[in-house]
Parts: sequence; structure tokens; C-alpha cells
Amino acid sequence: MERSLIILKPDAVQRGLIGTIIGRLEQRGLKIIGLKLAQIDTALAQQHYAEHQGKPFFNGLVEYITSGPVVLLVVAGENVVEMVRSMVGATNPAKAAPGTIRGDFAVSIGRNLIHASDSPASGEREVGIFFREDELLPAFTRDTDRWIFEQ
Ligand code: RTP
Ligand code: MG
Repeated sequence: MERSLIILKPDAVQRGLIGTIIGRLEQRGLKIIGLKLAQIDTALAQQHYAEHQGKPFFNGLVEYITSGPVVLLVVAGENVVEMVRSMVGATNPAKAAPGTIRGDFAVSIGRNLIHASDSPASGEREVGIFFREDELLPAFTRDTDRWIFEQ
């Protein structure tokens, strides 16, 4: 089953948007299998954003993601990586479509509220950085699943 790592970045926590953003994921019917609050340290931030090492925005990005508490989530299910990315919207909120999280709540690329894995392989790598397997729920069903997924 595909898994996406989602981070509600420090600006989302500071602005009181935790419930609003998690609510959107829940309303879509997505299944959350991991959830915790944390403050990401520099080493973990550099590991998570390793693909951006050396780029001009890298140091600012690490400072941003380590600047305060974050919420970490794991969402699991068929096609969840693509579905969550489309709900998050374009990296630059100025270009993000209305109806997306960034398009509705953010204006600046360096304060874009939320991270979501960009491929199933990234999802697996990133879940492994922030969660132990025993912190994630094993396969579980919700009573609503049959109203959300055509079996
Ligand atoms: P994320 O990894 O945080 O989900 O965002 P993303 O896939 O939409 O964008 P990515 O290219 O992976 O960039 C990671 C984060 O770096 C900051 N950024 N700043 N100033 C810039 O040109 C620039 N480009 C990227 C953003 O905070 C972006 O979310
Ligand atoms: Mg990215």
C-alpha cells in the first residue's frame, strides 16, 4: 500500500491551521495511519531535504522547517501520493490553484505550510526518516470504508 509522509510545517502550527489542514485530508476520506508532534532537528531536516543540498534556498529551507514544532502524518492507500500532492498545490503558493491548501492559505514559497511526498519511493524513504514502523497502525478498517472505497 502506498504511503505519503506529510509535514504540517512550523507556519501551519503557528497559524493554528493544524485542524483545518488535517480536516481536509479526513474529509477526502484519506486514511491516516501515523500522527505526531515533533520539532525537527537540523540533521533530520538535511536528511529529509537531501535532494536540495547545494541549492540557494537550502539553508533557508532547513532553518524554516526546524524553526518550530511541526505535525508529522502518514497517509496510506492506493494513489495517495498523487492525491495528496494535488490537494497541496504548486510549490509556489502564488501559483497554486484555489481549492488547494497552498492556494487557499499561503502566499510565499518559503512559507508554504505543508510538505507531501512527491513519489511512492520518496514516501517510503521519508516515512522511514520520521517514524518507526511500530508507531504506525497496521492495516485497519473504518466502518466508513465501504462508503468511501468501491469494493
Ligand atoms: P515540499 O518538498 O516541501 O513538499 O515542497 P515541494 O515538493 O512542493 O517543493 P520542492 O521543490 O521539494 O522544495 C522544497 C521546499 O523548498 C522551498 N523552496 N524554496 N526559494 C525557492 O526557489 C524555493 N524552492 C523551493 C519551499 O518551501 C519548498 O516547499
Ligand atoms: Mg519536495
